Parts: sequence; structure tokens; C-alpha cells
Amino acid sequence: MTQSKEVQLVWHEAAVSKEERWEQTGHKSAILWFTGLSGAGKSTLANALEKKLFEQGTRSYVLDGDNIRHGLNKGLGFSEEDRKENIRRIGEVAKLFVDAGTIVCTAFISPFRDDRRQVRALVEEGEFIEIYVRCSLEECEARDPKGLYEKARAGEIPFFTGISSPYEEPEAPELIIDSDKKTVEQSVDEIVDYLKKRAII
Ligand code: PPS
Repeated sequence: MTQSKEVQLVWHEAAVSKEERWEQTGHKSAILWFTGLSGAGKSTLANALEKKLFEQGTRSYVLDGDNIRHGLNKGLGFSEEDRKENIRRIGEVAKLFVDAGTIVCTAFISPFRDDRRQVRALVEEGEFIEIYVRCSLEECEARDPKGLYEKARAGEIPFFTGISSPYEEPEAPELIIDSDKKTVEQSVDEIVDYLKKRAII
């Protein structure tokens, strides 16, 4: 079926507002955007935080790099163009979670500043919380939980972040977690404190 280029679309206002959802659950929604090198600990932290939030009765959800690439973003690779599209789609999905009143924890390398900035611009001020999971390349490479660095060094994986593709560090993230200096529990507590201080939970 072909579609005319000038598709007529009409935006429908939601019957239930984000604010009404916040009132019902007793907490606000936000995107907790974890960014960092492969092996820095983004997924570990995002999942540990989500568990803690869930146990406290908070509506939360994790969007994780490897999982999203199995479904929604199946077929996208690791060229600059594909990573951009990967992050653009995830940003749109994360925005829907914010509208649905959920705290969404995203764990993607998201190596480009401009792509992260575009996601920030999708939501309201204060709803995008950039969390830089900072860990040196040496440490990530020593951890190498999936054996990917070894393969990348051997030239078996093209465009590997930190080796043959760049990672642009956040310039003004809301939080920096030095994952090689703190335990997962300490880091989760720090993020929970931040969410309380900002009156999100
Ligand atoms: S990105 O850059 O945000 O689009 O990447 P993301 O969607 O987070 O996917 C990163 C995971 O894909 C695996 N992988 C690679 N990472 C980096 N570079 C290359 N070339 C690559 N190829 C596969 C790897 O398991 C990443 O997971 P994490 O959890 O970050 O280690």
C-alpha cells in the first residue's frame, strides 16, 4: 500500500493528563538517562535502581541497549547514522513513558552529545536526568564482561565505542557515578537521594 507524502495527521489530546497520573501514584515521572562506555555498568545500575524504586511502589521501567536492539531497533547497527536513529527512537519511547507517569531508566552508550541533547529537548525542563556512568576505558577493557573489547582489539567488531568509534563525555550531566570507585548500592542510594531532592519521588 502506498501512502501520499502529505499525510493528514491530527494530534489527539490524552483523556488523562501526566499530572493526573502523578497525583494518583504520588510521584512524578522522568527519564533517567544512563550513558557511558560498554562495560561501565549502565545496565547494572539501571536495573538495581529500578528494583529499588519498584520495591518502594514507584512506577518504573528499564529500556536497555541489547534488549531494544533485539526488537524495536532490530536491524540498526553501530554506524554514526544508525546510533543516531537508535537514540532518536529510544528518546521518543522514553517520552511516552514520561507521559504515562513512569520513571524510565535508559541504559544506552549514546556516545554523541548532540543525540542526548535532542532527547533532553523532547521533554520538559527537569524531566531528563543525565547520569554519566564514568569508568576509564582501561577498567572497562579489563572487565570486558562480554568479551567484546578483546574482539574489537582483534579487529573483529567495527566501530567499537572507545576503540574505533568515539565517546563524547557529557559536559553538564545531572549526576556522575564513578562506577570504579563506588558500590552499586552506594550509587543507587545517591540517585534515589537526587530524585528525592528534586521532589520527583
Ligand atoms: S548506542 O551507541 O547507544 O547506539 O549503543 P547501544 O544501543 O547502547 O548498544 C550497545 C551494546 O551493543 C553491543 N555492541 C556494541 N557496543 C559498542 N560498539 C559496538 N560496535 C558494538 N557492537 C555490539 C554491546 O553489548 C553494548 O552493550 P553495553 O551494555 O553497552 O556493553
